[in-house]
Amino acid sequence: MNNQAIGIFDSGIGGLSVFQEIKKLLPFENLIYFADQAFCPYGTKSQSQIRKRVLSALSFFEKQKVKLVVIACNTATTVGIDYYREKFPKVPIIGVVPVIKTAGGKTVTKKVLILATQSTIENPYLNVLINKFGKGIKFFKLGDWEGQLVKMIENGELKQKKIEKELDFLLTPFLNQNIDTVVLGCTHFPLIRNQIQDIFGARVQILDSGGAVARHTQRVLENKGLLAENQKPDYTFYTTANIERLNRSIQNFIYILNAKVKKMTFPTD
Ligand code: DGL
Repeated sequence: MNNQAIGIFDSGIGGLSVFQEIKKLLPFENLIYFADQAFCPYGTKSQSQIRKRVLSALSFFEKQKVKLVVIACNTATTVGIDYYREKFPKVPIIGVVPVIKTAGGKTVTKKVLILATQSTIENPYLNVLINKFGKGIKFFKLGDWEGQLVKMIENGELKQKKIEKELDFLLTPFLNQNIDTVVLGCTHFPLIRNQIQDIFGARVQILDSGGAVARHTQRVLENKGLLAENQKPDYTFYTTANIERLNRSIQNFIYILNAKVKKMTFPTD
């Protein structure tokens, strides 16, 4: 048994979609959520810029003595998960990648759309996953160029016409391609799942990684004997940007009122 917290990291509020799944599956765990919103979106940044930020976040988690870190960001995971593990060998680090294998097992039409950040779409690692798990399937890739969607989600513009228009513009070309499965390869996108579903209609299944990451987290903690004992958990949130903005997103997306939200400043900011 171990009551130290689990650290959950993302460039912004996308990782809240993963936080939610972990909270549901592991209700006794203390969770520390860290959003690097001052540097969001990551999807338009270089590999070395992203790696540097993630290392700072990992140092922060190390000081908090977390027992495990979840990099709840496909972009940060795909640019350097092995590198982070090499730099922080003492703490287990779990990453998030698009669920290509699951999609491959579920698609009937053998046509799948992957929606991710510019960085993830361009990352050769995505093709490694496709070649390994996606034999015989046509994968369409759509990148969030210039981080437009992520920026709108971060700004809480979800119910406004602007995001609907952007999604219509981006997704309409894929509507007559016989696609039956959409992979949300960015943790921000489950936060706009309903809007995406509305465009594709109910016959298209939309998959994200949150549940799988939560189950993986549970397995790792179990195997290492690190699960928390039955207790009322503590949730703390940190942002490198604006506390009120993060607080609003926490209320809107994961319905935690009176969350403990704190400011965190990177050494480089
Ligand atoms: N939420 C992140 C992901 O899963 C990245 C969004 C961004 O900062 O561009 O890729």
